[in-house]
Amino acid sequence: MEITILGIESSCDDTSAAVLRNTTLLSSVIASQAVHEKYGGVIPELASRAHQQNIVPTIDTALKEAGVTPDKIDAIAFTRGPGLLGSLLVGTSFAKGLSIARNIPLVEVNHLHGHILSHFVDLPDQTLAHPDFPFLCLLVSGGHTQIVKVCSPFDMQIVGTTIDDAAGEALDKCAKVMGLPYPGGPVIDRLAKEGNPDAFRFAKPHVEGFDYSFSGLKTSFLYTLRDAMAENPDFIEQNKCDLCASLLHTVVDILVDKLIRAAREYGIKDIAIGGGVSANSVLRNRIAAEGAKRGWRTFIPQLRFTTDNAAMIAVAGYYKYLQGNLSTLDAAPIARYEDLL
Ligand code: KG4
Ligand code: ZN
Repeated sequence: MEITILGIESSCDDTSAAVLRNTTLLSSVIASQAVHEKYGGVIPELASRAHQQNIVPTIDTALKEAGVTPDKIDAIAFTRGPGLLGSLLVGTSFAKGLSIARNIPLVEVNHLHGHILSHFVDLPDQTLAHPDFPFLCLLVSGGHTQIVKVCSPFDMQIVGTTIDDAAGEALDKCAKVMGLPYPGGPVIDRLAKEGNPDAFRFAKPHVEGFDYSFSGLKTSFLYTLRDAMAENPDFIEQNKCDLCASLLHTVVDILVDKLIRAAREYGIKDIAIGGGVSANSVLRNRIAAEGAKRGWRTFIPQLRFTTDNAAMIAVAGYYKYLQGNLSTLDAAPIARYEDLL
């Protein structure tokens, strides 16, 4: 049976649409929003306005590239949350409008499930490697840092989560105080390649179990900058690459350390990473290296599936559609949707 799913993602500052035939990606379009750059972070009201401008052309392009007309869509999968309420509202409302106009079933998707299930998308000319259930996924994005035990596309348990900042958020904030553009994660990734990871030492958290904390690291980073700048106003400029390398390696050490412990505790050897920070080269290399050392099968997503995209929403929607788990028109966006994990 061939199922065609239109995925719509609008949780933060990227408007994205994708078309899947079963798990095969037919098209994926992402409209990014440059409007936030000069503010050094996402401005929610500007994000929702940009989504409104982008959503029709983005979906139109995705359908055309896939060669699919609306009457061929079996279901519309949309991100219900978590995310910015105004942004989610645009995608959710569009999905409902199209659903009513064309009588197409709706499937709501938890954005975090989408990141995790992005490992099940295939390309038309390439079947990608899929983890076996149960697997562990280190989910690292701008808003979330979790270790999730994934028993099925619908059964996911949070094994550990951050008690304060997310890893991506910590990188973005540290980048901001160094005067780097938003989002800081990719810039830190690039600058770190030229730096010495042992140049600076920052505080590592001591948190029970498999939970994370990044606020102490952030504070220790800020104090280092403050003290050094008092002595030398050019400190940041002169040490940018070393600061980035030391910070990034500390973040990756913290992430991977708990992941190793969780893998040992749960006896799971299929290990995946997902979310925007899984685009990071240091993290990707470390996961591959730890996997080789520990006999893990590692699942490192293609870069296009790391940051926010609608392909992951479509694939999560596909599994829910197969299960008959449809949504009704009263499914309102939810800014904090973690409870449904
Ligand atoms: O998953 P995502 O696109 O959005 C959320 O769901 O939050 O993740 C965005 C986060 C941002 O914090 C961004 O700085 C980070 O992912 N990020 C990276 C890289 N690319 C994106 N962090 C480190 N290295 C990268 N290459
Ligand atoms: Zn995301």
